[in-house]
Amino acid sequence: MNTSKAGKRKPTHPQAEIRASQTGSFLTLHEIVKKARQRMDDENWDYLMGGTETETTMHRNRMALDAIAFTPRVLRDVSAIDCSASFFGQKLRIPVLLAPVGMLERFDPDGAAASAKACAEFGIAHMLSSRTAPELEDVAAAGDNMRLFQLYTRGDWDWIEDYIKRAKDNGFSAFCMTVDSAYYSRRERVLARGHITTFRSGIEGFIHQTQLNWDTVKRFKETYPDFPLIIKGIATAEDATLAIEHGVDGIYISNHGGRQLDHGRGAIETLPEIVDAANGQATIIIDGGFCRGSDIVKAVIMGADVVGLGKLQGLALAAGGAPGVVRMLEILEKEIITCLGLIGASSFDELDPKAIILPAKPATEPHATSAFPLLNLTSGTY
Ligand SMILES: Cc1cc2nc3c(=O)[nH]c(=O)nc-3n(C[C@H](O)[C@H](O)[C@H](O)COP(=O)(O)O)c2cc1C
Repeated sequence: MNTSKAGKRKPTHPQAEIRASQTGSFLTLHEIVKKARQRMDDENWDYLMGGTETETTMHRNRMALDAIAFTPRVLRDVSAIDCSASFFGQKLRIPVLLAPVGMLERFDPDGAAASAKACAEFGIAHMLSSRTAPELEDVAAAGDNMRLFQLYTRGDWDWIEDYIKRAKDNGFSAFCMTVDSAYYSRRERVLARGHITTFRSGIEGFIHQTQLNWDTVKRFKETYPDFPLIIKGIATAEDATLAIEHGVDGIYISNHGGRQLDHGRGAIETLPEIVDAANGQATIIIDGGFCRGSDIVKAVIMGADVVGLGKLQGLALAAGGAPGVVRMLEILEKEIITCLGLIGASSFDELDPKAIILPAKPATEPHATSAFPLLNLTSGTY
């Protein structure tokens, strides 16, 4: 029924009629991607799937993951597998976090509330973007999941503090500042459509994003020593070292899914040097191109605590709302269990760095959907 309690008609959203029974029928991740493509118009598809300029960074995310091969061990009794993980003192069913994604309402009418609900049902963490609907308080009320809050800085310290207090008051376990967006990139899939979205043009307070520096990090930790701080967008050992020196609790390795700086390294390529620099003194989160259970196993073997999902989250939401995200996570979990079992580990604790070898030769040309070879989308995107 498309009528609110007050009796007013609400506008129909293209995703509104999705039922859990429909999403339960997805057996593979590529079916989810295919359904998402069918349900999304070209504009939303390009917003979700596009990278910056030549999209080299985005492609390198996949290329770097594809260049890691497993060296499996056998005869180890893997009849019972535990793929849970610990993250800031809380247990996650799999070592996965739904990454902060702006404008999730473009993929599902409930926006970030749908992601939060899915996390609560499945048992993983959600990082809420400050650039999505609905408001922080409504997302916190949507699901009893582990939640973290991510901020794009659009104001002075008082403005930042207002968000810190709201996040604390609403049960968010940690606060994250995204620092890889001092300038907005040129995403040509969007620019080529001849319009710049309101989000990217003349943004009020954007100057604060460009002025961000380590003093803000210092001030945060001095003022809120007990509220975990995550810095998202770390891409070098040098910045990881500085983060540790400033008392940062979580280092979030990310190139924004290839949506900010073009011609960067694939995210997982940077993981070993950052893990070394952090030296066990911070939680390590990574994202960028992660689409399959085996990708997640590779990251954990190399020292990540948790892996973030950006595009895959948007695709699952578009395909089936909150139940679609739950289904995507169930399939990922099956892939993780299969991968762990086949490399001879009963849990992530049993993983040996020798279980992988690199560089291996990638078997596929990387592109936005190259992790799903059975998809029949011309040129990999349409
Ligand atoms: C549509 C979209 C919107 C995004 N919005 C944000 C955001 O609001 N804040 C942020 O820190 N990162 C944002 N990101 C980046 C993601 O948090 C994440 O770093 C990236 O998507 C990971 O790569 P993947 O998409 O290959 O998984 C966004 C990514 C996408 C695809």
